[in-house]
Amino acid sequence: MKNTRGIILAGGSGSRLFPLTSIYSKQLLAVYDKPMIYYPLSTLMLSGVRELLIISTPEMLKWYRLLFKDGKHLGLDIKYAEQKEPKGIAEALIIGKDFIKKDNVMLILGDNIFYGDFTEMRKAKEKNENATIFAYYVKDPERYGIIEFDGKDNAKNIIEKPKNHVSNYAVVGLYIYDSDSPRIAMSLNPSKRGELEISDLNNVYLKRRELQVVKLGRGFAWLDTGTPESLLDASNFIGTIESRQSLKVGCIEEISLRMGFLPYSKYKKLVLGYPDSEYKNYLMNIMRDIKIKEDI
Ligand code: G1P
Repeated sequence: MKNTRGIILAGGSGSRLFPLTSIYSKQLLAVYDKPMIYYPLSTLMLSGVRELLIISTPEMLKWYRLLFKDGKHLGLDIKYAEQKEPKGIAEALIIGKDFIKKDNVMLILGDNIFYGDFTEMRKAKEKNENATIFAYYVKDPERYGIIEFDGKDNAKNIIEKPKNHVSNYAVVGLYIYDSDSPRIAMSLNPSKRGELEISDLNNVYLKRRELQVVKLGRGFAWLDTGTPESLLDASNFIGTIESRQSLKVGCIEEISLRMGFLPYSKYKKLVLGYPDSEYKNYLMNIMRDIKIKEDI
């Protein structure tokens, strides 16, 4: 199976969240009990990706480095790169060209929160197609990249923020590509908004008949964090699930342990070093759970 590396794009100015974002990176804002970027990072980890590149603006990159360092304490390998100006999602593939090398890449937007069963993502990654995108039914298709289908339910075209109704299936901010993607991104022309559009790149794969579209089912949640209201909704959603189940969503230490990225001994050392907090208590309880199982 081909190796898949991960890129998290945490760039942009987050202007719609001003003044929350006036001096701070949007993807570091709180979503309930964690920084926003924990959620997309956990999506990649749950899909089995351990080699990661975080891309942010030159001003904000230092905060991400401070937060995740080289990732080794989480059983990950994390590198960093700058996106000097917000020139589009597809530019992340150009920035990440030397990181991707000959591998496949799973690209995720740092403000996209997914909740549900990640089997579809893992399966798509293992299938090793040229390109895979995920579609989600939304009420406001004018805000996203939207998939147009033909009579046989095959994708025909992807239209970025269509003015007229095409379908309700939005392309979510999670994409899997082969190592040809940086080259394709380099061949794109900037759109009217001055960006290298990810929808243009997806259309190249679609025209080549190399694009797989996976519809995410109704049991799946894809949350938006673009406005103060949707940010609060996302926090409430995560808070509701966590308090109902007393299980955390997007808890990267727990995922490292359960995915086998981190051996128990290293997990224990990491958690014991954390400041006393509800988060630490949770991670300690997991240790107890696992210890009990080991004793049985
Ligand atoms: C971007 C993409 C769009 C995609 C969306 C998902 O939109 O251009 O195709 O549906 O992310 O979050 P933007 O955030 O640039 O408005």
